[in-house]
Amino acid sequence: MDGISRRKFLFISATSPLVFQLNALASQGSKSNEPDLNYPRTISVLQEAFKVEMIAHKIYVGYTSKALSEEYPNIAYLFHSFSYSENIHSDNYKRILAKLGHEAESIQTEIQVYDTKSNLQEAAQNEMRKIESTYPVFIKELETEACEEAIINCMYSWKSHQQHEQKVKEIANLSGIFFGALSSHIEGLKLDFYVCRVCGSTIDKAPHFPCVICNRSMSHYHKIEMPV
Ligand SMILES: [Fe+2]
Ligand SMILES: [Fe+2]
Repeated sequence: MDGISRRKFLFISATSPLVFQLNALASQGSKSNEPDLNYPRTISVLQEAFKVEMIAHKIYVGYTSKALSEEYPNIAYLFHSFSYSENIHSDNYKRILAKLGHEAESIQTEIQVYDTKSNLQEAAQNEMRKIESTYPVFIKELETEACEEAIINCMYSWKSHQQHEQKVKEIANLSGIFFGALSSHIEGLKLDFYVCRVCGSTIDKAPHFPCVICNRSMSHYHKIEMPV
């Protein structure tokens, strides 16, 4: 992780509105400048991040099925790849929680699935919300206890969501009144999605360099198969 990106991120986090309250954290203000090595604030953030990523995974699974049913196999492939990436993120939080002696708390929730054109727009908005609000709040909280593994993994997720948002925005922005023509164009493309099993980085070409997010070797990329 490079220092410039981290500074940029912290600037964004400092200037972003709080979109939700981590209630459990509010009553746990540290009485000294020393971080609590039981990491209570970190654990609360990790639990919240785990839920956010579980829901994102579930939503993309739903969007994949819908795109398949509407006969948009390449858009289904995009959503399927994102669902794999979101699963990496949630698994990372689950693993760190276990290391800290806590079990990840999953939740039951209903997801909303619309038609594929609307799902693309929803996906773009959800990714942007995570980039601008959700993850800046998480990182700001995590900085108070400086648990490096938690911070690094939140940065991985934050950067992965930037990739998702860029890709889905490319499609959604162009799909207004020309969705039929656009989808025909997309469905005519030969796509190959790869997801890094360390950080969830999602790319649409075979990798030729180490991961752009976590810098691990290309061998960590997993080729995503077309969903059926
Ligand atoms: Fe994610
Ligand atoms: Fe990676």
